[in-house]
Amino acid sequence: MEKLLEDIDINAWTKLKNAVLTTDSGFHFLTLGSVDEQGLPQIRIVVLRGVDLLERVLEFHTDIRSPKWREFGNNPHATVLGYCPQTRLQLRLQGSIVMYDASSEIAEHAWDKLSSRTQQTYAVAAPGSDVVNEAKATNNGKASFGVLLFKADSLDWCQLAREGNQRAMLRYRPEGKLASAKWVNA
Ligand SMILES: Cc1cc2nc3c(=O)[nH]c(=O)nc-3n(C[C@H](O)[C@H](O)[C@H](O)COP(=O)(O)O)c2cc1C
Repeated sequence: MEKLLEDIDINAWTKLKNAVLTTDSGFHFLTLGSVDEQGLPQIRIVVLRGVDLLERVLEFHTDIRSPKWREFGNNPHATVLGYCPQTRLQLRLQGSIVMYDASSEIAEHAWDKLSSRTQQTYAVAAPGSDVVNEAKATNNGKASFGVLLFKADSLDWCQLAREGNQRAMLRYRPEGKLASAKWVNA
């Protein structure tokens, strides 16, 4: 495989990894797409909470009462989209979601690392419920907390540049190694 394509892969995933703690990175807030019960695409912004470079996994947190939790329960296929305006790089990843609710070790561990302010955001009424029906918080929010682990199968890398846009398609093996990479027309 061409060295440049391998470098592109490492570089893209390093950018994602660095974006976890860099709140002004273009990739700190990503767009996560699901398919709803009617087969319609649904997208929303989520915070990138963690990256496993070797396994090709992105970590997101959410409220298990939100529609997306139900949607991923019915259909694990997901798309993640990010754009960094500073570098004019778009990353579009396709893969699938595995869900971990508060009873899991993964969610327990993630919950313990959250600030109490962030924990409080889960101790409110369910996302999308009517404000008039808003119930008072009855717990500390932990029961509503869930972790979404997105495992990437492919990366569509697209670099805008004055001298010519570039685009590459990269595919990953189940264990995370780069399986193939090729240039495609932007
Ligand atoms: C900047 C920003 C960051 C957000 N981060 C998250 C997040 O990390 N997790 C989350 O579940 N929702 C997050 N949201 C809210 C979602 O975009 C969405 O409105 C909410 O989760 C309901 O989505 P759903 O109805 O598709 O389940 C964020 C919204 C904004 C504007």
